[in-house]
Amino acid sequence: MDRNDGPDDDLQRLRLQTVSVAAGRPPRRPGEPLNVPLVMASNFHAAGPGQAAAEYSRDDGTPTWAALETAVGALEGGGAVAFASGMAAVSAIVELLPVGARVVVASDSYSAVRTLLAAGSPPGRWELDHVDVTDTGAVLAAARGADLLWLESPTNPLMDVADLPELCAGARAAGALVAVDNTFATPILQRPLAMGADIVMHSGTKFIGGHSDLLIGLAVTADQDLYERLRARRELAGATPGGLEAFLALRGLRTMAVRVAAGQRAAGELAERLHAHPAIDRVRYPGLAGDPGHARAAAQMDGFGAVLSFEVRGGARAADAVCAAVRLIHSATSLGGVESTIERRAKLPGQEHVPPGLLRLSVGCEHVEDLWDDLDQALVSAAEAGRQHPLGLRHRGSSTGRLR
Ligand SMILES: Cc1ncc(COP(=O)(O)O)c(C=O)c1O
Repeated sequence: MDRNDGPDDDLQRLRLQTVSVAAGRPPRRPGEPLNVPLVMASNFHAAGPGQAAAEYSRDDGTPTWAALETAVGALEGGGAVAFASGMAAVSAIVELLPVGARVVVASDSYSAVRTLLAAGSPPGRWELDHVDVTDTGAVLAAARGADLLWLESPTNPLMDVADLPELCAGARAAGALVAVDNTFATPILQRPLAMGADIVMHSGTKFIGGHSDLLIGLAVTADQDLYERLRARRELAGATPGGLEAFLALRGLRTMAVRVAAGQRAAGELAERLHAHPAIDRVRYPGLAGDPGHARAAAQMDGFGAVLSFEVRGGARAADAVCAAVRLIHSATSLGGVESTIERRAKLPGQEHVPPGLLRLSVGCEHVEDLWDDLDQALVSAAEAGRQHPLGLRHRGSSTGRLR
């Protein structure tokens, strides 16, 4: 697999936190920079006869993309291909499938993935089966004869946990390709290729970039043939990453381990406090001892992550009121940034399975006590607003029609 030269050969003996700092560096030459520079190039000087060299970035990549791919590949244990966004990576993966393929996907998966797969289904591009990813037997039964099992764990936004080792082994034995969206966990906490997945996908827009200032995606595989097909897909479909985005994503990746550690420390504390809060009906965070996904997550992850979801008593109106009342946390979509974000996911199309009052909270790098003060005051003010509303807390909100 294409990898940069340099000190990367030694990476296998390093811990993942160190790999995220050390991988994808240029060779150590006096006077040269420590980081691969931002290379903005569509084309390169042609090589002489009999010589090989990069010619065109859509075909051959750039040193900046390659540095990011080297680092993410080293973390996940495969060869990485960077794309324009997470969805571009998803598209490249599903476009590997033959016409008429059967795809099995978790009922609770990222909304645009569900929409993309559903859009392919009616014209006969593929058939789609939805499964409850927590029901390992049912998923394996559905995967029999399937071409692709698409998994996410923990899931967005219900925080369900899939038994990745069982599902990867069983589905592959049944002949299905297994792809895992590892966006929530990051390779710092979970490495699906080592658990038997064929492909790992990332929205690098989230924890890898980490600063809510770029869109990028990655697909990673340890299978040379799949790797080449994904590169070919990018070359032909042209969903290439921007040079600046790739540069910033690698810069973000350097601090990913410490950001994820800080976020998950605070997320664990907030989950406990929300669990005990009178305005909350239910908290989903695999780090809570009573969470249905706790045992599985503890067995297959190195931490429980920096995202949690909780249901506000009073449904959609109360949850919307919480989003309107936060002052430090951002009422915004997306996740994985240094700044905490909160969103009511059921307002999105295709999220009918999501409880109307469920809020997804992505915990950033703010101090946990400031986050708690903000959440607590928002919950109190939402409860007060609910008491004053003529319908009390029982009103249900409607979809805004936005995708995300
Ligand atoms: C779990 C998950 N997968 C995939 C995506 C798609 O990534 P992008 O927005 O970078 O296209 C997202 C975006 O929110 C996501 O949360």
